[in-house]
Amino acid sequence: LASKHGCDHIFFIGFLGAGKSTLARNLGRMFKRRYLDTDRLVERRAGHSISYLFRNKGEASFRELETKALESLASERSLLVSCGGGIVETPRNIELMHEMGVCVYLDGEFDDSLRQIRSLASRPDFRSREHAQRLYQHRRPLYRSAADLTVDIRGRSFEDVSYICADML
Ligand code: S3P
Repeated sequence: LASKHGCDHIFFIGFLGAGKSTLARNLGRMFKRRYLDTDRLVERRAGHSISYLFRNKGEASFRELETKALESLASERSLLVSCGGGIVETPRNIELMHEMGVCVYLDGEFDDSLRQIRSLASRPDFRSREHAQRLYQHRRPLYRSAADLTVDIRGRSFEDVSYICADML
């Protein structure tokens, strides 16, 4: 999946629990490419955890930090970037990703995401199933339109998804 754009990054987008971070890390190790996670980058730059930022500064402030974190990747090359599930909520982020590379959407089932989310300890902004489901429905078209490539992860093992994505690198 050759990028026609500047930095040659590959951005993995999709709902929480789709496995974006694990995948970026895995592919990074396989192909000796640097990988990072926008959530970890925001935390490092802000000096606070995501849950702290949501709780004490609010989502709008978190989204601004997320955009600044993305902007900071313009000086890097060939990264595998796992994006926070809400990255597509900010239209500027979609522009930035397309300026710097390509977006790969890991398209999964809501119930599978929910299972993952629940097995993870702290998800400050996923209060209820209804709330999470509304977000999922709201975001699906956003992911789809942002995606240069969509990988259907339903019913696929992590290994299968890794191989599909490895093929495009
Ligand atoms: C969010 C997803 C999280 C993190 C924050 C907000 C969201 O990222 O950015 O909690 O709005 O969906 P992951 O999808 O990497 O867990």
